[in-house]
Amino acid sequence: MENQNQNQNKGPKMNRRKFLTLTASLPVVLGGVGSLSLLGGTLNPPESLKPLPPKMAVAKEMDITDAPLEFVYDGSPAMLFSKDGALLAFSRVCSHLGCIVAWNADTAQFECPCHGGVYNADGDVIKGPPPKPLQRLTAWVEEGVVMVQYKEV
Ligand code: FES
Repeated sequence: MENQNQNQNKGPKMNRRKFLTLTASLPVVLGGVGSLSLLGGTLNPPESLKPLPPKMAVAKEMDITDAPLEFVYDGSPAMLFSKDGALLAFSRVCSHLGCIVAWNADTAQFECPCHGGVYNADGDVIKGPPPKPLQRLTAWVEEGVVMVQYKEV
């Protein structure tokens, strides 16, 4: 009988201790989750608040031919040329692992020296491991100057 009373007294005491431990740690856990979600919101601003990619003057319109002109766009190498009267501009960063592709004038293709990736003049993959086309830049003429800007097409 005495033993039963001890067990009955122990039960609620243990549960109270667990309860107090849990409730004491709850604000810490909730505070951490709240901070992380706040930080996530800060690191991933809505699309409308992201800065636009830079718009850049590259060359005079009269200097553009079918021979690619190399330039640096937003810190990365790029190329601009005309094909069938249209301006084409691409990043030269390979979509596979980021090597710099080179223009082969004999085949009219972009070739990657690292793993044999080959792109046609429209930037589409025609051979090798690159998973997607070269990043295309929008190119247009403003008062005789060719401008470029990265835009999703
Ligand atoms: Fe260009 Fe691998 S980095 S093919």
